[in-house]
Amino acid sequence: MTSVNKKTVEDINVKGKKVLVRCDFNVPFKDGKISDDKRIRGALKTISYLKDNGAKVILCSHMGRPKGEFKPEFSLAPVAERLSELLGCEVKMAKDVIGPDAEAITASLKDGEVALLENVRFHKEETKNDPDFAKKLASFAEIFVNDAFGTAHRAHASTEGVSHYLPSVCGYLIQKEIGIMGAALEDPKRPFVAILGGAKVSDKIGVLNNLIEKCDTIIIGGGMAYTFLKVLGYEIGSSICEEDKLDLAKEILAKAKEKKVNFLLPVDNVIAREYKEDSEYMSIYSDSIPDGWMGLDIGEKTQELYAKTLKGAGTVIWNGPMGVSEWEHFAAGTSSVAKAIAESGAISIIGGGDSAAAVEKLGFADKMSHVSTGGGASLEFLEGLELPGIACLEEK
Ligand code: 3PG
Repeated sequence: MTSVNKKTVEDINVKGKKVLVRCDFNVPFKDGKISDDKRIRGALKTISYLKDNGAKVILCSHMGRPKGEFKPEFSLAPVAERLSELLGCEVKMAKDVIGPDAEAITASLKDGEVALLENVRFHKEETKNDPDFAKKLASFAEIFVNDAFGTAHRAHASTEGVSHYLPSVCGYLIQKEIGIMGAALEDPKRPFVAILGGAKVSDKIGVLNNLIEKCDTIIIGGGMAYTFLKVLGYEIGSSICEEDKLDLAKEILAKAKEKKVNFLLPVDNVIAREYKEDSEYMSIYSDSIPDGWMGLDIGEKTQELYAKTLKGAGTVIWNGPMGVSEWEHFAAGTSSVAKAIAESGAISIIGGGDSAAAVEKLGFADKMSHVSTGGGASLEFLEGLELPGIACLEEK
């Protein structure tokens, strides 16, 4: 479990200091333009605090997976531009993470000025957490602030390595993410309901095992539901099923029973003949899925059952879509769950990735208590794992 009691930017004197801030500016692009700047906006509070308190702010981040080579399509230059607009000041863009240009730019910063280094993953040493690379990066600064929640599950040079050479604290985004999710796991307002979806049980085993100890109800949707239905003796046609995870699914069902956790599976489904957007489709009860058909979404009765359950919830955590939500005919389950959470009045936490994208797209994001900026990171946090990019920061 990651400690949530970390020092923050407010616990350290930043005036006149060079502060290296690791952000997660790994933002999506469409037609060459940033299509969602949530992660950039998420870092603004920390950057503004540091600027306003007279720090020389040196930002760094990764973008995509360029595999240790300079590739212009993974440049952070568009992020510098967007940041300049949002902050209303110049953000000096360095041509590389280390080397003469980065050295000159970081050395020239005046109090309150901001620079952004190029993609840390243009060097293979980053993902290897190479100590020399981390030391070089750290040499530009006097303080390290990690605010990259989305990358906190990676022990890389710029997320963990630099903390060996600098006093290290967290920024406001990490503070908020671990504060809200930590409180939900530690002392949830009950009933505590977790909704888990996505294609595979194997991706959610850790989170299921951790949440089964804490939740009152677990709601299952997405492709992973069919592995559970098969364990219960249902014919699931050609629905996705992890044969090698049937025993694990059985154990999870037994554990839920033992812990008296209400474990809900779809009672009906939208099924399709083929895994295709325009496939023939129909609705059917879970005990009647014909051979050759596959479940691609939860059905209407299930939507009603899940919405009713969510109505009385005190805390809700959601991770993973209920169906193939990017395809119109199989998106209703995911939208209905998003709507039910938004209307529940519960403390609502949306794990990053697909579920966060779904609530954003459906316009429910501002109705949720918290939409995490981390996909893999929020999942690992909810699994109860220690995130290396947070574990390395100083305790209060
Ligand atoms: C993410 O988008 O989940 C984070 O930025 C981490 O990216 P990664 O999976 O490439 O490490």
